[in-house]
Amino acid sequence: MTGADGLLGTTLVPLWRKAGADVIGWTIADFDIRDADATRRTVVAARPEVVVHAAAYTAVDRAESEPDVAMAVNRDGSANLCRPCRDVGARVVYVSTDYVFDGAALAPIPPDAARAPLGAYARSKAEGERAVAASGCPWTIVRSQWVFGPGGPNFVDTVRRAAREGRSLRVVDDQVGAPTSTRLLSEGLWGLTRRGASGYWHLAAAGAASWFQVARAVFAAADADPSLVTPCSTAQAGRAAPRPAYSVLDCGATSTALGVPLPPWAEHVTAYVRLGRMPGIGLLAEDA
Ligand SMILES: NC(=O)c1ccc[n+]([C@@H]2O[C@H](COP(=O)([O-])OP(=O)(O)OC[C@H]3O[C@@H](n4cnc5c(N)ncnc54)[C@H](OP(=O)(O)O)[C@@H]3O)[C@@H](O)[C@H]2O)c1
Repeated sequence: MTGADGLLGTTLVPLWRKAGADVIGWTIADFDIRDADATRRTVVAARPEVVVHAAAYTAVDRAESEPDVAMAVNRDGSANLCRPCRDVGARVVYVSTDYVFDGAALAPIPPDAARAPLGAYARSKAEGERAVAASGCPWTIVRSQWVFGPGGPNFVDTVRRAAREGRSLRVVDDQVGAPTSTRLLSEGLWGLTRRGASGYWHLAAAGAASWFQVARAVFAAADADPSLVTPCSTAQAGRAAPRPAYSVLDCGATSTALGVPLPPWAEHVTAYVRLGRMPGIGLLAEDA
């Protein structure tokens, strides 16, 4: 796995190891994916069967002022990784994002919908997808969204901290998606990989909510007063990067392939805020 010390990797690597996989967790200290030679050397020496490719430039707002850096990591770095994977016959499972869509959809977005990225990060991830799909290695592109968990900064943790400190928050009410736990994502990726899934897949929690609704749910789960959270618009929030207004992913095919229903977002958000852990989704042992 690339990006092994990031938000997703922190949950995925130990979970997959407990499930019996022989996982090598690569971080930027092992190789920078912009360095094609170092990437090739390391991948060829490891001879993996599958590479979960989660390493990415993920600073959505900062990318607006350094789009070339985002593109070098997310497009060119992905191409650098795929070339040696093709040569050793490894499948690349590329973790991608709902931000490749423009938010104009009126219903959950199917995996074969056309990409229409709005910002610099989104464009670089969309180009990363193209690079993976054109690379000649076996590939799987799994898009997720609004990820939270114990491995790095994320919205649910930020709001939980505000709830515990009794602070009030203004949160955007005109972007709709589904917060997805690193546990759900790691377990779903396991299921798709074990089943040899290829092509495009969507993997996120069930249901839909605005960031504002999620923040209120976090406050409620933390036994704080939800009325401390008030709504604002994306324009009022004044972030550098544009974001999709509606990016709920249609995960029906994924759920069918996995043979389990994907849990509603509130289930994992509530468990995470209350207990600090996220339940499994039925593909791996609950205590894994
Ligand atoms: N978080 C979300 O809400 C979300 C939603 C949808 C999709 N995704 C996708 O899911 C994947 C994992 O996201 P995440 O939330 O776990 O992100 P993250 O916490 O930012 O982790 C990304 C990892 O990639 C590493 N990295 C960055 N540049 C690199 C480079 N040039 N060479 C090698 N490694 C590099 C980072 O290392 P450093 O920290 O040392 O830079 C970090 O460990 C990403 O591809 C992201 O686009 C995330």
